[in-house]
Amino acid sequence: MKNVKAFIFDLDGVIVFTDKFHYQAWKRMADRMGIYFDETVNNRLRGVSRMESLDIILENYEGSLSQEEKKALAEEKKASYRELLNTMTPQDVSTKVRRTLEQLREKGYKLAIGSSSKNAPFILEKVGLLDFFDAISDGNNITNSKPDPEVFLKAAEYLGEDPQNCIVVEDAYAGVDAAKAGGMAAAAIGDAASYEKADYVLEDFSDLLKLVSGNEDQ
Ligand code: BG6
Ligand code: MG
Repeated sequence: MKNVKAFIFDLDGVIVFTDKFHYQAWKRMADRMGIYFDETVNNRLRGVSRMESLDIILENYEGSLSQEEKKALAEEKKASYRELLNTMTPQDVSTKVRRTLEQLREKGYKLAIGSSSKNAPFILEKVGLLDFFDAISDGNNITNSKPDPEVFLKAAEYLGEDPQNCIVVEDAYAGVDAAKAGGMAAAAIGDAASYEKADYVLEDFSDLLKLVSGNEDQ
């Protein structure tokens, strides 16, 4: 592996396990509306923006809704989600994840967040990582959600790095597609680990250290 200068991390499902909160919050809204929603539908929401996620959920809704009604449903989900996020503490980042991030930093790699979530700064603050990363690119600074590469290209730009020198770490198929569309290597973990488009598969977050071992001498 040559010229790796930076890592861009997805947040939900990579650094923290907020997926369960997204699921619970959407489920609460879907149940109230009488809309069928399960883990399989939820898997399709990984990496996808809030409004696009709602459109996917509404595929199982018989009626039709105005834009205003859709916005209200998205707000309802956001309120439940924020309530759940409020329970987070620094202990929601595993020691292994924290230690790996610190070791990558010690080795001189730049580290950024590349998340579709508008709640990324709130989550990072709750877990005590708001000031840790060199750059944060999230749902607040993009117009196109993953699989569009915008969020990662902005992260590379904020870091001042060529996208080709960045490795994206992702748990979503849409995120791996976004990385590849942006000319970056994709390291897949969790749900995305079975995706053939991924350049590297991580069985464990700390495998990132193995990925770059030997790189320092180049
Ligand atoms: C992504 C999640 O990180 O953020 C998606 O994987 C979610 O499931 C998206 O829809 C947007 O999140 P938020 O916090 O802006 O509603
Ligand atoms: Mg994710």
